[in-house]
Amino acid sequence: MCGIVGYIGDGDTVNILLESLRKLEYRGYDSAGMAIIDDKGKARIFKNEGEISELEAIVPEISSHVGIGHTRWATHGRPTTQNAHPHCSGNICVVHNGIIENYQELKSELISEGFVFISDTDTEVLAHLINKYYSDDLGLAVGTALGHVRGSYAIGVLSNEHPDELIAARKDSPLIIGLGKDENFIASDIPAILKYTNRIIYIDNLELISVKQGSVRVFDMEGNPVEKEEHIIEWDLEAAEKAGYPHFMLKEIHEQTRSIHETMTGRLHELEGDVNFGELGLDRNEIRQFQRIEIIACGTSYNAGLLGKYLFEGLAGIHTDVDTGSEFRYSSPVLAPSTLVIAITQSGETADTLAAVREAASYGCRTLAITNVVGSTISRDASHTIYTRAGPEIGVAATKSFTSQLVMLYLLAIHFARARSMMDADRARMLLSELRKIPGHVSRILEDAGTIHECASMFVKAKDYFFIGRNINYPVALEGALKLKEISYIHAEGYAAGELKHGPLALISKDVPVVAIAPQGHTYDKILSNIKEVTARDASVIAIVDCDDYCEIEKFADFVIPIPKTDEMLTPLLSSVVIQLLAYYTALELKCSIDKPRNLAKSVTVE
Ligand code: F6R
Repeated sequence: MCGIVGYIGDGDTVNILLESLRKLEYRGYDSAGMAIIDDKGKARIFKNEGEISELEAIVPEISSHVGIGHTRWATHGRPTTQNAHPHCSGNICVVHNGIIENYQELKSELISEGFVFISDTDTEVLAHLINKYYSDDLGLAVGTALGHVRGSYAIGVLSNEHPDELIAARKDSPLIIGLGKDENFIASDIPAILKYTNRIIYIDNLELISVKQGSVRVFDMEGNPVEKEEHIIEWDLEAAEKAGYPHFMLKEIHEQTRSIHETMTGRLHELEGDVNFGELGLDRNEIRQFQRIEIIACGTSYNAGLLGKYLFEGLAGIHTDVDTGSEFRYSSPVLAPSTLVIAITQSGETADTLAAVREAASYGCRTLAITNVVGSTISRDASHTIYTRAGPEIGVAATKSFTSQLVMLYLLAIHFARARSMMDADRARMLLSELRKIPGHVSRILEDAGTIHECASMFVKAKDYFFIGRNINYPVALEGALKLKEISYIHAEGYAAGELKHGPLALISKDVPVVAIAPQGHTYDKILSNIKEVTARDASVIAIVDCDDYCEIEKFADFVIPIPKTDEMLTPLLSSVVIQLLAYYTALELKCSIDKPRNLAKSVTVE
């Protein structure tokens, strides 16, 4: 996904921009570029297809006090040097995240006025438009140009006629300002500039900012000044680096002992048999009045949402539907103010989820965001927000953010069940105390990761995989398939085990490993039958089971991965760690690019 950085000050501008761009690499990109004003007042543009190291190789040592940089993830036009940002027109250079929806009509207009386009991007329209409206005030020209565009943007703009100023603006795409001592920064993401400052201003929609070396002034689009609050970011940079693991993904899988604990911290109220949810902003009465829950999410967060359905229905007795953001936003949803809409999004920036939430809000529904990123767009759009506190997740494949989302859904479902008198205090106490033990159980799975590595190596030649589960294990099966395909590029399907016989059984053969998520529970006998169905077709079975069932299941499975004993309802928290490790070690054996899988981005801020 695209990333923006900008710097103004007495530091080494080129290196600060390169270093900040490197911190955005985790978002995924295909080209990078920068524009700086050199000390002779000349704008110098460098851009390159490929990695930031390739950009670094073409940037000479230049003394400069102001610059903007960009990592591009192609949306309009191929990932070429020509299409890389910045895009320039006259003296104006622009970096842009987002999509200008009416760029075609603006482009035709600009061409008829004599502007010459050299790229296929929507961004180039912005550069020409700003140039068109420029007389002597850069901020005014940017504001006027933005008045003509439809779509989403976070932009950084500079001109060699204003070497002491950077202009930035945002609508529906994240943007922050970093405050330094005699220097200031712009960025699309906090880690980009955390090395230099932890003093941050979050920019809201339709705000325009003039950033100078000694001042930051924020305006609305009518030019009125806006007061902004400064936030201190407590993450240290260390937390966003690999800490000795070969990949962020493995580090983040291991961090789950801590992240799961963090999600629960201060929220478990075992004495009362309830959850402390002050930040939720919904009292028991309000919770009782909801007649339905609609969960909206994408990808891994959607799989978490599916588990949420089983929890809200099974524990709190409240009808729950789950939809992907991209489907929901173009459906004809039947929503009423008595529907609670829960949006689950790790990044808080997923365009489809954000659009779906806005759609839901237009029906008068309360919207509750479950997100990992404080200050993210969803946290400002939703009427209520709770944070998963999993810490920054750099690997593109979601791991710790997923288990923290699951924990959050357990806590919410227990809280709702208590408020609606669907669960007595004893059952709640029991579940909460079992939840407290989960980080310890995860540690034990991690200690035995070698067994999962062995399993991954055994089946590494497979071209297709199936993951099956029933009831609360079905979302884990979907997540297992998603994890495997995204990082190892092996084709994998997640199925409700009872559905195999309705079609996919035709694909089962000796070359297709089937991962059965089969801990003890009320569907255990059923999945045993499903395991027998696939072994009868010569498939190899990898069974994820309770440690007590090891001996029994060994008779049917080719590989058994035990998980520690916990309450049936909570087993997805443990089996999820197993499927993450299985995907990780498979991708490792296949020498895949684990942290940055091909074609994928960490934060999907376009539709
Ligand atoms: C898969 C993965 C994606 C995200 C999806 C939604 O490992 O990370 O499927 O889950 O793009 O992202 P968020 O949760 O940020 O809305």
